[in-house]
Amino acid sequence: MKKSLSERSQASVWHPFTQMQVGPKPIGLKKGEGVYLFDEDGKKYIDAISSWWTCLHGHSQPYIADKIAEQARSLEHVIFAGFTHEPAVSLAERLLENLPDNQARIFYSDNGSTAVEVGLKMAFQYWQNIQQEKTKVIAFKEGYHGDTFGAMSVGSRSAFTEPFFPFLFDVEFVESPAKNADQCITQIRQLVEAHDVAAIVYEPLVQGAGGMLMYSKETLDEILALCKEHEVLCIADEVMTGFYRTGTFFASEVGEEQPDIMCLSKGLTGGVMAMGVTTCTAKIYDAFLSDHFMNKTFFHGHSFTANPIACASANASLDLLLQVECQDRIKGIQAKNESFMARLKGNIKVENIRVLGTILALDVKSDVVTGYGNAVRDEINYFFLEKGILLRPLGNTLYLLPPYCISDEELDFIYEKIVEYIT
Ligand SMILES: Cc1ncc(COP(=O)(O)O)c(C=O)c1O
Repeated sequence: MKKSLSERSQASVWHPFTQMQVGPKPIGLKKGEGVYLFDEDGKKYIDAISSWWTCLHGHSQPYIADKIAEQARSLEHVIFAGFTHEPAVSLAERLLENLPDNQARIFYSDNGSTAVEVGLKMAFQYWQNIQQEKTKVIAFKEGYHGDTFGAMSVGSRSAFTEPFFPFLFDVEFVESPAKNADQCITQIRQLVEAHDVAAIVYEPLVQGAGGMLMYSKETLDEILALCKEHEVLCIADEVMTGFYRTGTFFASEVGEEQPDIMCLSKGLTGGVMAMGVTTCTAKIYDAFLSDHFMNKTFFHGHSFTANPIACASANASLDLLLQVECQDRIKGIQAKNESFMARLKGNIKVENIRVLGTILALDVKSDVVTGYGNAVRDEINYFFLEKGILLRPLGNTLYLLPPYCISDEELDFIYEKIVEYIT
């Protein structure tokens, strides 16, 4: 008998974040269209989390697909050292138009982890290039910045990174600003007053993988002001928050203070192609300039840096993102989430209901501590998959992070199923 896609995958593929011995069988997908995914048995699922927080405009978006195909026929790839091309230059120009106005340069890489990795390397080399000895890094507990070694080093230590502890560089971890803002600020103050700190790495306004933990723009501003006062480079990891996820183009634009370095990925290409971007100020960029080609140069790059098809995808995603229809939907999702939040208030089965831009999150009450390891996760996962909704929770934290093309009716359908789950 012909084997299913799922069975063939189980026999040949090693899936990420999955205990292959006991993990669930992967669902074999045949197709994606708008907010829907269709499996090999014909069942459809609403993708309520934009795949891995990536596909801003839904799946197989025709406009993006056309632009990618067009690009593939004209220039599919080229070495990006010594060569450049229209999609990369246009994308850089367009990003700079929309980034906080102190950002001056765009550096391309492949994914969110490499965007952070590049941000860290830029910061470390910046201090070396200007001959200042600064190596200390501050990061937040509950933070997640990716799975390469630098990105793991600045991520909160957990079971995920435990096998690699001996290989991670030392980082000063301070309290999560979402869990205790005052303590977080006090700890940062103590560190920056006592030491020469090179950089702080943070997810602005919401710590995503840590459990959609949200904190205020006032807290963010206070942290940045403190760091700037002590000449600590501020590296904003906007891999998840960028491109209107939190309601504004970038989460970093809500306050007075601006980051020195920004890391982007996920929604950058509309979630269609793998791509990372790290941006920086003119001051940082200028510190890498020299008369000699080996001197102060930033020696970092990837084979697929600034891949033209990925850049074309990002340009197409920006076209869609800036259209009135998309902007209206972003506001519409936020408004619907807020009224759903009000409806859930007082429900005894959930707590910490929170909304930020197009993200809605809540914790399902449980006897076990809130967090990724909470086994309620599997129960929630299966319940919603069975109802035709992809809503992969973070432990007992259930959240929505939908594609912006989701309709009010589709949101209502998800809300009803959430209510059904908690009653
Ligand atoms: C804030 C943040 N930074 C970095 C990453 C890593 O991105 P990638 O999975 O593309 O390597 C993630 C992924 O979830 C993230 O949420």
